Amino acid sequence: MHTAPTTTAVPMKTLTNPTLTNPNLTSPSLASPALTSPALPGAALTSPPSPAMRLRELVFGAACAAAVRAAARLEIADALGETPAGVDELAAAVDTEPLPLRRLLRALSCYGIFAETEDGRYVHTEMSRLLREDEPNSLRYISLWCTEPWTWEAWPRLDDAVRSGRNIFPELYGKEFFDYLHDDARDSAMVFNRAMTHSSRQSAAELADYLDLTGIGAVADIGGGQGHVLASLLEKHPQVHGTLLDLPKVVANADPRLREGGALASRTRLLPGDCRDAIPVDADLYIIKNILEWDDDSTRRTLRNVVAAARPGARVVVVENLVDDTPSMRFTTAMDLMLLLNVGGAKHSKASMVELMTEAGLCLGHIGPVNPYLHAFESTVPTG
Ligand SMILES: C[S@@+](CC[C@H](N)C(=O)[O-])C[C@H]1O[C@@H](n2cnc3c(N)ncnc32)[C@H](O)[C@@H]1O
Repeated sequence: MHTAPTTTAVPMKTLTNPTLTNPNLTSPSLASPALTSPALPGAALTSPPSPAMRLRELVFGAACAAAVRAAARLEIADALGETPAGVDELAAAVDTEPLPLRRLLRALSCYGIFAETEDGRYVHTEMSRLLREDEPNSLRYISLWCTEPWTWEAWPRLDDAVRSGRNIFPELYGKEFFDYLHDDARDSAMVFNRAMTHSSRQSAAELADYLDLTGIGAVADIGGGQGHVLASLLEKHPQVHGTLLDLPKVVANADPRLREGGALASRTRLLPGDCRDAIPVDADLYIIKNILEWDDDSTRRTLRNVVAAARPGARVVVVENLVDDTPSMRFTTAMDLMLLLNVGGAKHSKASMVELMTEAGLCLGHIGPVNPYLHAFESTVPTG
């Protein structure tokens, strides 16, 4: 059903709640003024929902998350092409009953995920497109990861985690989160790996554009996962060599470009290890991206190990999502709470990150956004 983009204008069904309109249609040809104007005249329909209605909507947040999950699992976005499709046609393609599928699409389109035409067919919006598997910036696996079955067990225990300050995962499942994932929830582990791969590929390219590697000959990526950041940097800078340090199982599955036989292998060292124990790497630039969200003791040990291994004057760049001073507060604070529930970790504020880096002996430099949800903290190892 996936066909070439259409140029035909399609009248769109009107949504009446102004906060829920703006489905961000990708194709201007599909956008219609009707989408942003109220169905009926009257001030009540053009004003934002009242606090009471907003709270009602918020406490039904689980319904919204479940609807996105259902759409991702049913692969509706993949089945819908570039031309409007009727519900019967879509239902046949994704193997569902037409009537409940219409109800699901109606709920999703309230949030700008898919949009309904005036004649009752459905088209893509920018957000629904992101649920496609073949979309370069796909969020399909992130959507599945954030709504995996264990999350529906864990969220109702948030008050307990807030009370105790500890993760509730061991109480719920009898073991720590990653042990559960690898021993008992292989499908979830697969979703996690794909979600991390997608999001780390996307942010790796952005970080490679952001970082100035003038004068840098050797880069080390600490807790670098499969090495997407390192591969992006080595591809962009042919004179640079790199080391990928991560846990043994992770390094063994490094990006094929970095492994033996890969295009970047001759400039890459794969180093299995635990960065809390030691970081035996001499580099001009150390990158530590999205790993300092565990307990502060692990963060202190990792930063101390970098400072111990690095030459005076070496650069250390920490890249993290922040729970303050960021345009993506709702997203990062939600991740912060999820980390509390599953691993007892936390996202940092700008101040807490600066404090830990300073305590480790690093000299803080520029702090700036790599993209709307990631901040880079530049620092150097002191020379004296
Ligand atoms: C959220 S991922 C981030 C991966 C990568 N830096 C990125 O941004 O795409 C956290 C990484 O830290 C690694 N990690 C966790 N504990 C570690 C340890 N003790 N030593 C080294 N790496 C570790 C994990 O294996 C994982 O690859």
